[in-house]
Amino acid sequence: MSERIVITSGKGGVGKSSITAGLACALQRRGHSVLVVDCDIGLSSLDIILGAKSDMLFNWGDIICSRCSSDAALTETGYGSVLLCAPKRFEPEYTEQAMQSLAQEYEERFDYIIFDSPAGLGTGFKLAAAAANKAIVVSTPDEVCVRSAAAAADSLSEFGIAESRLIINRFERKATTKGKLLNVDDVIDSTRLRLIGVVPNDRNVMFNMCCGKPLPEKSSAAQAFKRIAGRMDGERVYLVIT
Ligand SMILES: Nc1ncnc2c1ncn2[C@@H]1O[C@H](COP(=O)(O)OP(=O)(O)OP(=O)(O)O)[C@@H](O)[C@H]1O
Ligand SMILES: [Mg+2]
Repeated sequence: MSERIVITSGKGGVGKSSITAGLACALQRRGHSVLVVDCDIGLSSLDIILGAKSDMLFNWGDIICSRCSSDAALTETGYGSVLLCAPKRFEPEYTEQAMQSLAQEYEERFDYIIFDSPAGLGTGFKLAAAAANKAIVVSTPDEVCVRSAAAAADSLSEFGIAESRLIINRFERKATTKGKLLNVDDVIDSTRLRLIGVVPNDRNVMFNMCCGKPLPEKSSAAQAFKRIAGRMDGERVYLVIT
């Protein structure tokens, strides 16, 4: 049985897709099989970020609508993980129940299924949350983002998610010390979520992921993803804040 994890945030552009890719890569490096499901209908990005190896003929909407088999829609990526692309537009067949059945199709084949949710708490978020059993809420360390992360966490509780954890993304110690950004405790207190990791602001994320290249293993973001993947596997890993 796989762990089914939704990555969400409420607010857009905070790093959900980058974190999905970073964690998929880190979990893969730990020997896990990972399926990534892009739930950003109409605005998908993970085919680019993950360096998808083929012209994705099919997406998960085609599986739900019986236009292809569950195998035919799987796309190999440069990261080793496998991707299910998002449909280009919404169809009424995309229900929460259909997403749950879709997840069940792959449960025996993958250790982790990661659902990258779109911005907001609308349809894509609901479909992703309905298919997951755990959640990671991403927040950058600022008031605006923290408020929407808290709203996302509240919404998740309606989906019977067993566990929601927090990733603070784009953290910058210097800016926090100067009082320009919130510190780690502030974000935890405001979101009321248990922290699973802090990912630094790292230009490697921007420069590599925009063109489908995995992060250099020694980069600070890759190291953060490695530590988070260890915690996801139940290991005790010290919190490192760079
Ligand atoms: N830790 C980081 N360090 C530096 N840049 C980052 C980091 N995380 C994300 N970014 C950059 O922030 C931008 C938005 O990231 P991303 O697309 O992953 O966000 P998103 O939450 O998935 O957005 P959307 O809500 O539109 O789906 C990208 O340019 C990405 O490279
Ligand atoms: Mg995204």
